[in-house]
Amino acid sequence: MAESIKFPHDGSREEKYHALLPQIESLVAGEADLIANLANTAAAIKEVFDFHWVGFYRNVNGELILGPFQGPVACTRIPAGKGVCGRSVQEKRTIIVPDVEAFPGHIACSSLSKSEIVVPLLYGGEVKLVLDIDSIHLSDFTDIDREQLERIVGILKKKHTI
Ligand code: SME
Repeated sequence: MAESIKFPHDGSREEKYHALLPQIESLVAGEADLIANLANTAAAIKEVFDFHWVGFYRNVNGELILGPFQGPVACTRIPAGKGVCGRSVQEKRTIIVPDVEAFPGHIACSSLSKSEIVVPLLYGGEVKLVLDIDSIHLSDFTDIDREQLERIVGILKKKHTI
């Protein structure tokens, strides 16, 4: 049950991920609804790391539409290929942007965002949704985030056919 989950607030970022992953696994295990699980996953990541924005965009006929998120109000639709999210869909891989101002075409939903990571969820070679995280710090994301967030997206992929 969600109320029995204790999220890690101490330790290195890697240690926090290691503690968080099984918690997300048990959070989504008992719920069959995709939106509910995306919502709790975004909330869990936000709670543990206090990133500026954590959320999902769904790929609907090539356009990315805002899904469950935690943080400030965000752009609702991202056209195909636009922004960091669109790049991740095009390239079908995780994109880390150390400085969003240096990324051509970055879509600024909040002027406070300084760095960003976007992790795609693929089915049958097609990106169905992306996990997008913004930080107020420059260069806040490393390969540790890439590896662990890809695992989190993997938990969602294993659970849901999208
Ligand atoms: N910065 C993203 C847009 C989404 S917001 O960060 C929530 C992008 O360039 O795709």
